Amino acid sequence: MNDKQLVAIQAAQHVQDGMVVGLGTGSTANYFIEELARRHRDEGLHITAAASSVASTIQAQTHGLPLVALEHLGRLDLYVDGADEVTTNLALLKGRGYDLVREKLLARASERFIVLVDKSKLVGHLGEKFPIPLEVIPFAWQLVQASLQQLGIASSLRQNAAKDGWAITSHGSLVLELTLPKTFKSDELNRLLNDIPGIVEHGVFDELADAVFVADNGQVEEIWK
Ligand code: A5P
Repeated sequence: MNDKQLVAIQAAQHVQDGMVVGLGTGSTANYFIEELARRHRDEGLHITAAASSVASTIQAQTHGLPLVALEHLGRLDLYVDGADEVTTNLALLKGRGYDLVREKLLARASERFIVLVDKSKLVGHLGEKFPIPLEVIPFAWQLVQASLQQLGIASSLRQNAAKDGWAITSHGSLVLELTLPKTFKSDELNRLLNDIPGIVEHGVFDELADAVFVADNGQVEEIWK
């Protein structure tokens, strides 16, 4: 069993009968979905599950986990997802995939948000290893870029996987990637990005995670807020 699978299985133990559970996106979240589907099938665990992306919808359907649409949700009991970076105060950088909008909606609507990572994702500050992704309305990307430029922050449009065009999110947004000129505190960065019109959503998840489960060579450490 690899570390991603290990941490996902441990997180699935936190799901109880009758819960409303949000399903994250990415390779670690995929293991969580698989384990939840196994518990649903083998243990008769009853849950209401909601997916954060087209990819996690397909993963749940493939493993036979029934889903409800976001339109039918109020509050969730638990949201479980991976992340690209995690700081010591449990701020996250997400969005290497294209599904920030639903991911943040589910994280915000959940009583508890558990994040699954391996040790390589732990950083001193957000943006240390990856650029900060912003989903922007296509006709606004130049204006958003200009606003960032005024703050001294350089940005560029993310290319698609084939590198022959631009990345387009599930909701038809473009993605701007920021290279930070200095180290920002996560709350400062969150506020700054929330304040720029034309940004649909961004990858800074500040004050949202309740716990981070860190896998390291076959061991899992649970860090609760
Ligand atoms: C999805 O948009 C991302 O935020 C993922 O949650 C993140 O990239 C983690 O992915 P892995 O679990 O594949 O490392």
